[in-house]
Amino acid sequence: MLASEKQLEELIDALLSLASSERGLQCRDPVDLAAVTDEAIAARREEIDSRGLVCEAALDGALVKGDKQLIERLVANLVDNAIRHNTHGGKIDVATATTVEGAVLSVENSGPTIATAEIERLSRPFERLAAERTSGGDGHGLGLSIVQTIAQAHDAALVVAPRVEGGLRVRVSFPAS
Ligand SMILES: Nc1ncnc2c1ncn2[C@@H]1O[C@H](COP(=O)(O)OP(=O)(O)O)[C@@H](O)[C@H]1O
Ligand SMILES: [Mg+2]
Repeated sequence: MLASEKQLEELIDALLSLASSERGLQCRDPVDLAAVTDEAIAARREEIDSRGLVCEAALDGALVKGDKQLIERLVANLVDNAIRHNTHGGKIDVATATTVEGAVLSVENSGPTIATAEIERLSRPFERLAAERTSGGDGHGLGLSIVQTIAQAHDAALVVAPRVEGGLRVRVSFPAS
């Protein structure tokens, strides 16, 4: 059940961005992943601190041609996941860079161990790890589906992998423009 009007608003917002990125890109503007990521982290500073998380960011300029709003949404979802599905006192490593393959964003976090077999399921709408499905908490299980759709709309490759020490590693590589 939806606990509040705010949650309902967030759900509608998430569904709309899912639908709009499925239509394909409306604009291809130059967007710096580093700047977008820096802002996303800054906006969540309080939440990061209150959870005792250490967030390390190595943000090198990484220019992408795309829809700024959708890219902001992609980055926000990944950073939110790294914060919310972490353990208290855990770690987050975020990096952006320009490589020969293009602009890359990587978000890595500590957290409970995830089985490789779970990864594909977690990227589907409304799917979450069993513990989180029953405990409620925030989120609707749409974040990774949105990330996938937005990446696809930008012809970006998305790799989601569990870390042996627990938690997740996500890498989005945008094509060189
Ligand atoms: N960075 C992460 N670290 C650990 N688990 C994650 C991470 N991102 C996603 N997950 C797992 O995948 C599920 C689906 O993620 P998502 O689609 O963003 O939905 P939500 O965050 O709303 O639960 C999460 O509920 C969580 O179990
Ligand atoms: Mg999420």
